[in-house]
Amino acid sequence: MKILYVCTEIYPLLKTGGLADVGAALPAALRAAGCHVRLLLPAFPSIAAGVRADAPALRLPVEGGPDVLRTLQPPPMLVRGHVIESGQPVYLLDAPALYQREGGPYQDAAGQDWSDNAARFALLGWAAAALGQGADPHWQPDVVHAHDWHAGLAPLYQKLLAGAGRITPSVFTVHNLAYQGLFAASSCAELGVPESLFTINGAEYHGQLSFMKAGLQFADAITTVSPRYAQEIMTPEQGCGLDGVLRDRRDRVSGILNGVDYELWNPATDPLLNAHFDGKRMSGKARVKRALQRLLGLEERPDALLFAAVTRLSEQKGLHLVPAMLPELIDRGGQLVILGSGDAGIEAALREALACHPGQAALRTGYNEDLAHRIIAAADVLLVPSRYEPCGLTQLYGLRYGTLPLVHAVGGLADTVTDCSLEALDEGRASGFAFHEFSANGLLGAMRRAFALRRRPSDWSAVQRRAMQQRFDWQEPAQAYRALYQTLLALTAAPLRF
Ligand code: ADP
Ligand code: GLC
Repeated sequence: MKILYVCTEIYPLLKTGGLADVGAALPAALRAAGCHVRLLLPAFPSIAAGVRADAPALRLPVEGGPDVLRTLQPPPMLVRGHVIESGQPVYLLDAPALYQREGGPYQDAAGQDWSDNAARFALLGWAAAALGQGADPHWQPDVVHAHDWHAGLAPLYQKLLAGAGRITPSVFTVHNLAYQGLFAASSCAELGVPESLFTINGAEYHGQLSFMKAGLQFADAITTVSPRYAQEIMTPEQGCGLDGVLRDRRDRVSGILNGVDYELWNPATDPLLNAHFDGKRMSGKARVKRALQRLLGLEERPDALLFAAVTRLSEQKGLHLVPAMLPELIDRGGQLVILGSGDAGIEAALREALACHPGQAALRTGYNEDLAHRIIAAADVLLVPSRYEPCGLTQLYGLRYGTLPLVHAVGGLADTVTDCSLEALDEGRASGFAFHEFSANGLLGAMRRAFALRRRPSDWSAVQRRAMQQRFDWQEPAQAYRALYQTLLALTAAPLRF
Protein backbone atom coordinates (compact mmCIF):
# COMPACT_ATOMS: atom_id res chain seq x y z
CA MET A 1 0.00 0.00 0.00
CA LYS A 2 1.46 3.35 -1.07
CA ILE A 3 0.85 6.38 1.12
CA LEU A 4 1.63 10.01 0.36
CA TYR A 5 2.13 11.74 3.72
CA VAL A 6 1.72 15.51 3.34
CA CYS A 7 2.92 17.81 6.10
CA THR A 8 5.12 20.83 6.85
CA GLU A 9 7.45 19.68 9.62
CA ILE A 10 9.76 16.74 10.25
CA TYR A 11 12.02 16.21 13.24
CA PRO A 12 14.96 16.89 13.39
CA LEU A 13 15.03 19.02 10.23
CA LEU A 14 12.22 21.42 11.08
CA LYS A 15 10.15 21.47 14.24
CA THR A 16 7.84 23.99 15.86
CA GLY A 17 5.83 21.39 17.81
CA GLY A 18 4.54 17.85 18.00
CA LEU A 19 3.61 17.82 14.30
CA ALA A 20 7.32 17.37 13.55
CA ASP A 21 7.74 14.50 16.01
CA VAL A 22 4.77 12.76 14.40
CA GLY A 23 6.02 13.59 10.89
CA ALA A 24 9.22 11.66 11.60
CA ALA A 25 7.88 8.78 13.69
CA LEU A 26 4.55 7.89 12.09
CA PRO A 27 5.89 7.39 8.53
CA ALA A 28 8.65 5.18 9.99
CA ALA A 29 6.07 3.14 11.91
CA LEU A 30 3.90 2.86 8.81
CA ARG A 31 6.90 1.59 6.90
CA ALA A 32 7.47 -1.01 9.60
CA ALA A 33 3.79 -1.95 9.24
CA GLY A 34 4.36 -2.71 5.57
CA CYS A 35 3.27 0.58 3.91
CA HIS A 36 5.36 2.35 1.28
CA VAL A 37 5.35 5.93 2.52
CA ARG A 38 6.59 9.02 0.76
CA LEU A 39 6.50 12.41 2.40
CA LEU A 40 5.62 15.61 0.61
CA LEU A 41 7.18 18.64 2.30
CA PRO A 42 7.80 22.26 1.28
CA ALA A 43 11.50 22.81 0.57
CA PHE A 44 12.10 25.05 3.60
CA PRO A 45 15.86 25.67 3.90
CA SER A 46 16.48 23.34 6.86
CA ILE A 47 14.44 20.57 5.25
CA ALA A 48 16.15 20.94 1.87
CA ALA A 49 19.54 20.78 3.62
CA GLY A 50 18.66 17.37 5.08
CA VAL A 51 17.40 15.79 1.86
CA ARG A 52 19.36 14.29 -1.02
CA ALA A 53 17.78 14.22 -4.49
CA ASP A 54 17.90 10.80 -6.14
CA ALA A 55 15.78 11.18 -9.29
CA PRO A 56 15.01 13.92 -11.81
CA ALA A 57 12.63 16.62 -10.54
CA LEU A 58 9.05 16.75 -11.82
CA ARG A 59 6.99 19.63 -13.18
CA LEU A 60 3.55 20.12 -11.67
CA PRO A 61 0.40 20.28 -13.76
CA VAL A 62 -0.61 23.92 -14.17
CA GLU A 63 -4.14 23.81 -15.55
CA GLY A 64 -6.68 24.82 -12.87
CA GLY A 65 -4.04 25.22 -10.14
CA PRO A 66 -3.00 28.26 -8.11
CA ASP A 67 -1.64 31.26 -10.04
CA VAL A 68 1.84 30.85 -8.54
CA LEU A 69 2.31 27.89 -10.87
CA ARG A 70 2.28 30.30 -13.78
CA THR A 71 3.90 33.35 -12.23
CA LEU A 72 6.84 32.00 -10.22
CA GLN A 73 10.28 31.90 -11.77
CA PRO A 74 11.79 29.37 -11.64
CA PRO A 75 8.55 27.37 -11.79
CA PRO A 76 7.77 25.18 -8.75
CA MET A 77 9.24 21.68 -9.04
CA LEU A 78 8.89 18.41 -7.17
CA VAL A 79 12.30 17.12 -6.16
CA ARG A 80 12.39 13.38 -5.62
CA GLY A 81 14.81 12.23 -2.93
CA HIS A 82 15.24 10.92 0.60
CA VAL A 83 15.99 12.23 4.06
CA ILE A 84 19.73 11.70 4.43
CA GLU A 85 19.61 10.65 8.08
CA SER A 86 16.70 8.22 7.95
CA GLY A 87 16.46 7.20 4.29
CA GLN A 88 12.78 8.20 4.29
CA PRO A 89 11.68 8.84 0.66
CA VAL A 90 10.35 12.36 0.09
CA TYR A 91 9.09 14.77 -2.48
CA LEU A 92 10.32 18.29 -1.82
CA LEU A 93 8.13 21.04 -3.15
CA ASP A 94 10.75 23.43 -4.43
CA ALA A 95 9.61 27.02 -4.95
CA PRO A 96 12.41 29.24 -3.64
CA ALA A 97 10.35 32.43 -3.80
CA LEU A 98 7.80 30.88 -1.43
CA TYR A 99 9.80 28.74 0.95
CA GLN A 100 13.43 29.83 0.98
CA ARG A 101 13.41 32.64 3.52
CA GLU A 102 14.75 33.52 6.92
CA GLY A 103 12.22 33.11 9.72
CA GLY A 104 9.72 30.41 10.60
CA PRO A 105 7.71 28.18 8.30
CA TYR A 106 4.45 30.04 8.97
CA GLN A 107 5.58 33.38 10.37
CA ASP A 108 8.39 35.86 9.91
CA ALA A 109 11.01 36.52 12.57
CA ALA A 110 8.71 39.11 14.18
CA GLY A 111 5.93 36.53 14.63
CA GLN A 112 3.67 37.84 11.84
CA ASP A 113 2.04 35.34 9.50
CA TRP A 114 3.68 35.47 6.07
CA SER A 115 1.38 37.57 3.92
CA ASP A 116 1.45 35.01 1.09
CA ASN A 117 0.59 31.98 3.24
CA ALA A 118 -2.52 31.30 1.15
CA ALA A 119 -0.41 30.75 -1.97
CA ARG A 120 2.41 28.99 -0.07
CA PHE A 121 0.17 26.30 1.36
CA ALA A 122 -2.27 26.13 -1.53
CA LEU A 123 0.70 25.06 -3.61
CA LEU A 124 1.41 22.29 -1.11
CA GLY A 125 -2.20 21.10 -1.42
CA TRP A 126 -1.97 21.28 -5.20
CA ALA A 127 1.24 19.27 -5.31
CA ALA A 128 -0.33 16.64 -3.03
CA ALA A 129 -3.41 16.44 -5.22
CA ALA A 130 -1.31 16.19 -8.37
CA LEU A 131 0.75 13.32 -6.94
CA GLY A 132 -2.42 11.70 -5.68
CA GLN A 133 -3.89 11.84 -9.16
CA GLY A 134 -0.79 10.45 -10.83
CA ALA A 135 1.69 13.29 -11.52
CA ASP A 136 4.67 11.00 -10.90
CA PRO A 137 4.56 8.31 -13.59
CA HIS A 138 6.74 6.05 -11.39
CA TRP A 139 4.79 6.24 -8.16
CA GLN A 140 1.13 6.89 -7.55
CA PRO A 141 -0.11 6.66 -3.97
CA ASP A 142 -3.11 4.57 -3.02
CA VAL A 143 -3.98 7.07 -0.30
CA VAL A 144 -3.18 10.77 0.20
CA HIS A 145 -2.78 11.52 3.90
CA ALA A 146 -2.82 15.28 4.58
CA HIS A 147 -1.98 16.85 7.94
CA ASP A 148 -3.42 20.04 9.43
CA TRP A 149 -4.66 23.13 7.61
CA HIS A 150 -1.43 23.59 5.66
CA ALA A 151 -2.37 20.57 3.57
CA GLY A 152 -6.13 21.10 3.81
CA LEU A 153 -6.66 22.03 0.17
CA ALA A 154 -5.26 18.69 -1.05
CA PRO A 155 -8.61 16.82 -1.05
CA LEU A 156 -10.33 19.81 -2.69
CA TYR A 157 -7.77 20.01 -5.49
CA GLN A 158 -7.95 16.24 -5.95
CA LYS A 159 -11.62 16.70 -6.75
CA LEU A 160 -10.78 19.35 -9.32
CA LEU A 161 -7.98 17.36 -10.91
CA ALA A 162 -9.98 14.16 -11.09
CA GLY A 163 -12.95 15.78 -12.82
CA ALA A 164 -15.36 12.94 -13.45
CA GLY A 165 -12.57 10.35 -12.97
CA ARG A 166 -11.60 8.41 -9.89
CA ILE A 167 -10.23 10.29 -6.89
CA THR A 168 -7.47 8.64 -4.91
CA PRO A 169 -8.84 8.30 -1.36
CA SER A 170 -7.69 10.87 1.16
CA VAL A 171 -7.29 11.05 4.93
CA PHE A 172 -7.13 14.40 6.70
CA THR A 173 -5.61 14.47 10.17
CA VAL A 174 -6.37 17.34 12.52
CA HIS A 175 -3.48 18.01 14.88
CA ASN A 176 -4.97 21.25 16.12
CA LEU A 177 -8.40 22.53 15.11
CA ALA A 178 -7.70 26.04 16.38
CA TYR A 179 -5.31 26.86 13.55
CA GLN A 180 -7.55 26.89 10.50
CA GLY A 181 -5.84 28.70 7.62
CA LEU A 182 -8.48 31.38 6.99
CA PHE A 183 -8.03 33.70 4.02
CA ALA A 184 -10.08 36.37 2.25
CA ALA A 185 -12.72 35.10 -0.16
CA SER A 186 -10.97 37.09 -2.86
CA SER A 187 -8.01 34.68 -2.69
CA CYS A 188 -10.18 31.92 -4.20
CA ALA A 189 -9.60 33.25 -7.72
CA GLU A 190 -5.81 33.25 -7.47
CA LEU A 191 -5.83 29.83 -5.80
CA GLY A 192 -8.09 28.26 -8.40
CA VAL A 193 -10.85 27.44 -5.90
CA PRO A 194 -14.05 27.54 -7.96
CA GLU A 195 -17.27 29.09 -6.69
CA SER A 196 -18.92 25.68 -6.75
CA LEU A 197 -16.59 24.55 -3.93
CA PHE A 198 -16.66 27.85 -2.02
CA THR A 199 -20.01 27.12 -0.37
CA ILE A 200 -21.29 26.34 3.09
CA ASN A 201 -20.92 22.65 2.24
CA GLY A 202 -17.47 23.31 0.85
CA ALA A 203 -14.53 25.45 1.92
CA GLU A 204 -16.43 28.64 2.82
CA TYR A 205 -16.36 29.65 6.48
CA HIS A 206 -18.25 32.79 7.46
CA GLY A 207 -17.37 34.45 4.19
CA GLN A 208 -13.72 33.38 4.24
CA LEU A 209 -11.82 30.55 2.61
CA SER A 210 -10.90 27.93 5.22
CA PHE A 211 -8.17 25.43 4.39
CA MET A 212 -9.12 23.44 7.48
CA LYS A 213 -12.76 23.22 6.45
CA ALA A 214 -11.75 22.14 2.93
CA GLY A 215 -9.85 19.23 4.47
CA LEU A 216 -12.78 18.31 6.71
CA GLN A 217 -15.35 18.50 3.90
CA PHE A 218 -13.53 16.81 1.06
CA ALA A 219 -11.38 14.11 2.70
CA ASP A 220 -12.73 10.57 2.70
CA ALA A 221 -11.76 10.08 6.33
CA ILE A 222 -10.95 12.52 9.13
CA THR A 223 -8.73 11.56 12.02
CA THR A 224 -7.42 13.42 14.98
CA VAL A 225 -4.69 12.56 17.41
CA SER A 226 -6.60 11.19 20.41
CA PRO A 227 -9.99 9.54 20.87
CA ARG A 228 -11.05 12.12 23.47
CA TYR A 229 -10.23 15.08 21.21
CA ALA A 230 -12.20 13.41 18.41
CA GLN A 231 -15.27 13.59 20.66
CA GLU A 232 -14.49 17.06 22.00
CA ILE A 233 -14.22 18.74 18.60
CA MET A 234 -17.77 17.71 17.81
CA THR A 235 -19.00 19.95 20.65
CA PRO A 236 -19.56 23.72 20.45
CA GLU A 237 -17.13 24.28 23.35
CA GLN A 238 -14.15 22.70 21.60
CA GLY A 239 -15.25 22.69 17.97
CA CYS A 240 -13.67 26.07 17.10
CA GLY A 241 -16.74 26.85 14.99
CA LEU A 242 -16.36 23.62 12.99
CA ASP A 243 -18.20 21.26 15.34
CA GLY A 244 -21.27 21.27 13.06
CA VAL A 245 -19.19 20.21 10.06
CA LEU A 246 -17.59 17.48 12.14
CA ARG A 247 -20.92 16.27 13.50
CA ASP A 248 -22.28 16.08 9.95
CA ARG A 249 -19.33 13.88 9.03
CA ARG A 250 -19.26 12.00 12.34
CA ASP A 251 -19.22 8.59 10.61
CA ARG A 252 -15.92 9.60 8.98
CA VAL A 253 -14.23 10.92 12.17
CA SER A 254 -11.98 8.86 14.42
CA GLY A 255 -9.28 9.47 17.00
CA ILE A 256 -5.96 7.62 16.85
CA LEU A 257 -3.63 8.36 19.74
CA ASN A 258 -0.11 9.53 18.88
CA GLY A 259 2.84 7.47 19.99
CA VAL A 260 6.36 8.15 21.21
CA ASP A 261 9.67 7.43 19.54
CA TYR A 262 11.29 5.53 22.41
CA GLU A 263 14.62 5.46 20.60
CA LEU A 264 14.79 9.21 21.14
CA TRP A 265 12.98 9.37 24.47
CA ASN A 266 14.57 6.74 26.70
CA PRO A 267 16.12 7.68 30.07
CA ALA A 268 18.38 4.63 29.97
CA THR A 269 20.15 5.70 26.78
CA ASP A 270 19.37 9.40 26.16
CA PRO A 271 22.69 10.89 24.98
CA LEU A 272 21.61 14.37 26.09
CA LEU A 273 21.71 13.40 29.79
CA ASN A 274 24.67 13.43 32.18
CA ALA A 275 23.41 10.22 33.85
CA HIS A 276 21.01 7.44 32.99
CA PHE A 277 18.25 5.59 34.78
CA ASP A 278 15.39 3.18 34.41
CA GLY A 279 12.54 1.84 36.54
CA LYS A 280 14.92 -0.39 38.53
CA ARG A 281 17.84 2.01 39.02
CA MET A 282 16.66 5.54 39.69
CA SER A 283 19.80 7.11 41.18
CA GLY A 284 20.73 8.58 37.79
CA LYS A 285 17.60 10.74 37.89
CA ALA A 286 18.87 12.50 41.03
CA ARG A 287 22.16 13.25 39.26
CA VAL A 288 20.34 14.64 36.24
CA LYS A 289 18.28 16.81 38.60
CA ARG A 290 21.32 18.14 40.40
CA ALA A 291 23.03 18.99 37.10
CA LEU A 292 19.96 20.86 35.90
CA GLN A 293 19.61 22.79 39.17
CA ARG A 294 23.24 23.84 38.83
CA LEU A 295 22.88 24.75 35.15
CA LEU A 296 19.83 26.94 35.79
CA GLY A 297 21.07 28.54 39.01
CA LEU A 298 18.56 26.79 41.26
CA GLU A 299 19.43 25.79 44.83
CA GLU A 300 20.79 22.25 44.68
CA ARG A 301 18.21 20.72 46.98
CA PRO A 302 17.63 17.05 46.11
CA ASP A 303 14.37 16.99 48.07
CA ALA A 304 12.82 20.07 46.40
CA LEU A 305 9.82 18.90 44.38
CA LEU A 306 10.82 20.14 40.94
CA PHE A 307 7.96 21.13 38.63
CA ALA A 308 8.69 21.80 34.96
CA ALA A 309 7.04 22.73 31.70
CA VAL A 310 8.47 22.42 28.18
CA THR A 311 6.07 24.12 25.89
CA ARG A 312 5.08 26.53 23.21
CA LEU A 313 3.97 29.72 24.92
CA SER A 314 0.50 30.06 23.47
CA GLU A 315 -2.98 30.58 24.88
CA GLN A 316 -3.61 26.86 24.34
CA LYS A 317 -1.02 25.73 26.83
CA GLY A 318 -2.54 27.31 29.96
CA LEU A 319 0.71 28.72 31.32
CA HIS A 320 -1.11 31.88 32.39
CA LEU A 321 -2.45 29.81 35.32
CA VAL A 322 1.05 29.27 36.66
CA PRO A 323 1.84 32.65 38.28
CA ALA A 324 -1.14 32.27 40.65
CA MET A 325 0.06 28.90 41.92
CA LEU A 326 3.73 29.82 42.16
CA PRO A 327 3.86 31.42 45.65
CA GLU A 328 2.29 28.34 47.26
CA LEU A 329 4.51 26.02 45.23
CA ILE A 330 7.58 27.84 46.56
CA ASP A 331 6.20 28.04 50.13
CA ARG A 332 5.82 24.29 50.11
CA GLY A 333 9.49 23.93 49.20
CA GLY A 334 9.04 23.27 45.51
CA GLN A 335 10.96 24.60 42.52
CA LEU A 336 9.82 25.47 39.01
CA VAL A 337 11.53 25.43 35.63
CA ILE A 338 9.89 26.55 32.40
CA LEU A 339 11.33 26.20 28.91
CA GLY A 340 9.06 27.95 26.46
CA SER A 341 8.97 29.80 23.21
CA GLY A 342 6.28 31.85 21.55
CA ASP A 343 3.96 34.62 22.70
CA ALA A 344 5.87 37.63 24.06
CA GLY A 345 3.07 38.61 26.48
CA ILE A 346 2.93 35.18 28.11
CA GLU A 347 6.72 35.16 28.30
CA ALA A 348 6.77 38.57 30.03
CA ALA A 349 4.16 37.51 32.60
CA LEU A 350 6.09 34.34 33.41
CA ARG A 351 9.39 36.20 33.58
CA GLU A 352 7.94 38.65 36.09
CA ALA A 353 6.40 35.92 38.26
CA LEU A 354 9.44 33.64 38.26
CA ALA A 355 11.87 36.51 38.91
CA CYS A 356 10.34 36.89 42.40
CA HIS A 357 11.84 33.53 43.38
CA PRO A 358 15.55 33.55 42.54
CA GLY A 359 17.21 30.24 43.20
CA GLN A 360 13.84 28.47 43.20
CA ALA A 361 12.39 29.25 39.78
CA ALA A 362 13.94 29.59 36.34
CA LEU A 363 12.64 30.53 32.92
CA ARG A 364 14.48 29.71 29.72
CA THR A 365 13.09 30.91 26.43
CA GLY A 366 13.59 29.84 22.85
CA TYR A 367 13.54 26.46 21.29
CA ASN A 368 16.13 24.12 22.79
CA GLU A 369 15.88 20.38 22.15
CA ASP A 370 18.82 19.47 24.44
CA LEU A 371 17.45 21.41 27.36
CA ALA A 372 13.97 19.95 26.74
CA HIS A 373 15.36 16.44 27.29
CA ARG A 374 17.32 17.45 30.37
CA ILE A 375 14.37 19.20 31.97
CA ILE A 376 11.92 16.41 31.27
CA ALA A 377 14.41 13.92 32.71
CA ALA A 378 15.35 15.98 35.76
CA ALA A 379 11.98 17.17 37.02
CA ASP A 380 9.64 15.37 39.41
CA VAL A 381 6.42 16.75 37.95
CA LEU A 382 5.74 17.78 34.37
CA LEU A 383 3.14 20.53 34.05
CA VAL A 384 0.77 20.39 31.08
CA PRO A 385 -2.17 22.59 32.13
CA SER A 386 -3.46 23.08 28.57
CA ARG A 387 -6.85 24.66 27.97
CA TYR A 388 -7.29 22.01 25.27
CA GLU A 389 -4.81 19.43 23.98
CA PRO A 390 -5.37 17.34 20.84
CA CYS A 391 -2.85 14.77 22.03
CA GLY A 392 0.18 16.27 23.73
CA LEU A 393 3.53 14.53 23.66
CA THR A 394 5.42 16.00 26.60
CA GLN A 395 3.21 14.21 29.15
CA LEU A 396 4.10 10.94 27.39
CA TYR A 397 7.79 11.82 27.56
CA GLY A 398 7.29 12.71 31.24
CA LEU A 399 5.76 9.29 31.97
CA ARG A 400 8.73 7.53 30.37
CA TYR A 401 11.22 9.54 32.46
CA GLY A 402 9.34 9.04 35.73
CA THR A 403 8.38 12.72 35.75
CA LEU A 404 4.75 12.52 36.80
CA PRO A 405 2.52 14.57 34.49
CA LEU A 406 0.20 17.14 36.04
CA VAL A 407 -2.44 17.83 33.41
CA HIS A 408 -5.77 19.45 32.68
CA ALA A 409 -8.03 16.46 31.97
CA VAL A 410 -8.81 17.19 28.32
CA GLY A 411 -8.06 15.62 24.94
CA GLY A 412 -5.03 13.39 24.78
CA LEU A 413 -4.03 14.40 28.31
CA ALA A 414 -7.20 12.80 29.67
CA ASP A 415 -6.59 9.74 27.50
CA THR A 416 -3.07 9.16 28.79
CA VAL A 417 -2.80 10.30 32.43
CA THR A 418 -4.70 8.85 35.40
CA ASP A 419 -4.97 11.03 38.48
CA CYS A 420 -3.64 9.87 41.85
CA SER A 421 -7.09 9.63 43.41
CA LEU A 422 -7.24 7.25 46.37
CA GLU A 423 -9.15 4.69 44.35
CA ALA A 424 -6.74 4.91 41.39
CA LEU A 425 -3.82 4.49 43.80
CA ASP A 426 -5.56 1.57 45.41
CA GLU A 427 -6.28 -0.07 42.08
CA GLY A 428 -2.77 0.51 40.79
CA ARG A 429 -3.86 2.78 37.92
CA ALA A 430 -2.53 6.18 38.98
CA SER A 431 0.16 7.74 36.78
CA GLY A 432 0.04 11.48 37.50
CA PHE A 433 -2.20 14.34 38.53
CA ALA A 434 -5.22 15.64 36.64
CA PHE A 435 -7.56 18.55 37.28
CA HIS A 436 -10.93 19.19 35.70
CA GLU A 437 -11.78 22.84 36.36
CA PHE A 438 -9.63 24.97 34.08
CA SER A 439 -8.64 27.60 36.64
CA ALA A 440 -5.80 28.52 38.96
CA ASN A 441 -7.72 26.73 41.72
CA GLY A 442 -8.01 23.56 39.68
CA LEU A 443 -4.28 23.66 39.06
CA LEU A 444 -3.54 24.39 42.74
CA GLY A 445 -5.57 21.37 43.82
CA ALA A 446 -3.55 19.07 41.57
CA MET A 447 -0.31 20.66 42.76
CA ARG A 448 -1.30 19.95 46.37
CA ARG A 449 -1.93 16.30 45.45
CA ALA A 450 1.58 16.15 44.03
CA PHE A 451 3.07 17.39 47.34
CA ALA A 452 0.80 15.00 49.27
CA LEU A 453 1.96 12.03 47.22
CA ARG A 454 5.57 13.05 47.67
CA ARG A 455 5.13 12.75 51.43
CA ARG A 456 4.26 9.09 50.88
CA PRO A 457 7.54 7.91 49.33
CA SER A 458 6.48 4.34 48.69
CA ASP A 459 3.29 5.47 46.92
CA TRP A 460 5.33 7.99 44.91
CA SER A 461 7.76 5.29 43.83
CA ALA A 462 4.95 2.93 42.89
CA VAL A 463 3.26 5.55 40.73
CA GLN A 464 6.59 6.49 39.19
CA ARG A 465 7.38 2.86 38.34
CA ARG A 466 3.97 2.42 36.75
CA ALA A 467 4.38 5.63 34.75
CA MET A 468 7.74 4.45 33.47
CA GLN A 469 6.37 1.04 32.49
CA GLN A 470 3.60 2.46 30.33
CA ARG A 471 4.19 2.27 26.61
CA PHE A 472 2.68 4.47 23.95
CA ASP A 473 4.48 2.87 21.03
CA TRP A 474 3.80 3.81 17.43
CA GLN A 475 3.07 0.21 16.36
CA GLU A 476 -0.54 0.25 17.47
CA PRO A 477 -1.44 3.65 15.94
CA ALA A 478 0.34 2.68 12.72
CA GLN A 479 -1.82 -0.45 12.53
CA ALA A 480 -4.91 1.69 13.11
CA TYR A 481 -3.97 4.06 10.25
CA ARG A 482 -3.20 1.09 8.03
CA ALA A 483 -6.59 -0.45 8.77
CA LEU A 484 -8.21 2.89 7.95
CA TYR A 485 -6.35 3.13 4.62
CA GLN A 486 -7.48 -0.42 3.83
CA THR A 487 -11.10 0.42 4.56
CA LEU A 488 -10.89 3.36 2.17
CA LEU A 489 -9.27 1.26 -0.53
CA ALA A 490 -11.93 -1.39 -0.19
CA LEU A 491 -14.54 1.29 -0.86
CA THR A 492 -12.97 2.41 -4.14
CA ALA A 493 -12.08 0.83 -7.48
CA ALA A 494 -8.58 0.34 -8.96
CA PRO A 495 -6.51 3.56 -9.21
CA LEU A 496 -6.94 5.69 -12.30
CA ARG A 497 -3.62 6.19 -14.17
CA PHE A 498 -2.77 9.36 -16.04
P1 ADP B 1 2.36 21.07 20.48
O1 ADP B 1 2.59 20.34 19.21
O2 ADP B 1 0.95 21.55 20.65
O3 ADP B 1 3.35 22.14 20.73
P2 ADP B 1 3.13 18.55 21.77
O4 ADP B 1 3.18 18.21 23.21
O5 ADP B 1 2.43 17.63 20.86
O6 ADP B 1 2.52 20.03 21.70
O7 ADP B 1 4.60 18.65 21.18
C1 ADP B 1 5.52 19.61 21.57
C2 ADP B 1 6.89 19.14 21.15
O8 ADP B 1 7.74 20.28 21.07
C3 ADP B 1 7.54 18.20 22.12
O9 ADP B 1 8.46 17.37 21.43
C4 ADP B 1 8.28 19.16 23.07
O10 ADP B 1 9.36 18.54 23.72
C5 ADP B 1 8.74 20.20 22.08
N1 ADP B 1 8.92 21.57 22.61
C6 ADP B 1 7.96 22.45 22.94
N2 ADP B 1 8.51 23.62 23.34
C7 ADP B 1 9.84 23.46 23.23
C8 ADP B 1 10.96 24.31 23.49
N3 ADP B 1 10.80 25.55 23.91
N4 ADP B 1 12.19 23.80 23.27
C9 ADP B 1 12.35 22.53 22.85
N5 ADP B 1 11.35 21.69 22.60
C10 ADP B 1 10.10 22.14 22.78
C1 GLC C 1 -0.58 19.60 17.77
C2 GLC C 1 -1.28 19.50 19.11
C3 GLC C 1 -0.68 18.48 20.04
C4 GLC C 1 -0.32 17.20 19.32
C5 GLC C 1 0.56 17.51 18.12
C6 GLC C 1 0.96 16.28 17.34
O1 GLC C 1 0.46 20.50 17.76
O2 GLC C 1 -1.37 20.76 19.74
O3 GLC C 1 -1.58 18.19 21.09
O4 GLC C 1 0.34 16.31 20.19
O5 GLC C 1 -0.14 18.35 17.25
O6 GLC C 1 -0.17 15.57 16.87
